[in-house]
Amino acid sequence: MKIKLIWFIVSFILIVVLYLGISGRMVEVNTDITVDGLDNETTKILYYAGLAPSSHNAQMWKVTIYPSEGRLVVGLDDNRTLPAADFENREALISMGAYARSCILAFEAYGYNTSHHISENGRAITINYTKNGMDKDEGLIALMKKRHTDKREYMPNDVPEFFQTGLHGIHGAVYFGRDGGEYEAIKHHTLEAAREQADNQAIRDELDKWLRLSNSEVINTKDGICAEHMGITGIKKSLYYTFISHDKARGDSFAAKGYEMAQKQADACAGFIVISSGENPVEYVNAGMRLMEVWLYAVRNNIEIQPMSYALENPGRRLALMMELKLPNPPQMVLRAGFVDGAYGENIPVRRDLKEYITVEK
Ligand SMILES: Cc1cc2nc3c(=O)[nH]c(=O)nc-3n(C[C@H](O)[C@H](O)[C@H](O)COP(=O)(O)O)c2cc1C
Repeated sequence: MKIKLIWFIVSFILIVVLYLGISGRMVEVNTDITVDGLDNETTKILYYAGLAPSSHNAQMWKVTIYPSEGRLVVGLDDNRTLPAADFENREALISMGAYARSCILAFEAYGYNTSHHISENGRAITINYTKNGMDKDEGLIALMKKRHTDKREYMPNDVPEFFQTGLHGIHGAVYFGRDGGEYEAIKHHTLEAAREQADNQAIRDELDKWLRLSNSEVINTKDGICAEHMGITGIKKSLYYTFISHDKARGDSFAAKGYEMAQKQADACAGFIVISSGENPVEYVNAGMRLMEVWLYAVRNNIEIQPMSYALENPGRRLALMMELKLPNPPQMVLRAGFVDGAYGENIPVRRDLKEYITVEK
């Protein structure tokens, strides 16, 4: 009887350990990069371009490419926008801008010259590309692969002076260290807005739509926010996937936890980088292009970045922050910045198959 009981307990523990081990393993998403009508080089370029950031990793871009003309058009996929949190499509256009800049950089890294044009409504970004015979820039590709959002705690030490000065070279970008009143103003609006959003059921439901709560959900959808994106790995990840259902993710206690995380994140950083621009679709796209430049500049200097968009999703708060920070234009991106006490983070490349969003025209 006693042996049977011991045998049962040991088997139970083994099953639990095995389950935790399997469900806690890092997710691996294999993005299929083949697209009928496109050569290998172009598909690789477009894969690296697709590593661009987007709100909720919704990847709300679609692409029509004309290979014989060396031209592609980045458009907005209205089925992938965030109508509750981003009712102005402002972040969708910023994400398109980040993707378009990422396309341009990837083409340039492969030895192409590019030019681009943004339509007045921001919904069509045309990129022309022609081979210039320059060698491949492996360093730039490596930076694009390394870029990621990092939600861990950052150390309070300021980012280096040269980095702050260098930011001035990117139009509309400015850094506010944690010792200034500007930092406090950004934190105040961020947390007020985070609290408002925690009480907004439509925004909670929308977040839940893009939350991935198992490895198989991530592998099937190849988009959205998985445990690793939230910095949850190993046993914590198994427990998160075991105990959080989509029902729970829409509930009060999940929203309260989200607010607590926002509080910790806003506190645990060196400062905020703000990118400002005019309030029109073309300028939103331009802000997204500059977001990509700022982010890669940070990656080059081992500085971690996490956008914190709560405050900016409210037009009134954008204006209030513009005044309080004495900016010439409203802020369009707030990036928490700093160094982590440990290894620089890695990109979690959860990205859709290229043929899902790329159409080839002869
Ligand atoms: C316009 C925009 C707004 C974003 N807002 C937030 C945010 O408020 N909080 C956050 O943690 N990440 C935010 N992100 C980061 C995305 O969640 C992230 O890019 C996406 O999940 C893909 O992950 P990656 O950046 O590691 O590749 C934002 C990104 C963009 C482009």
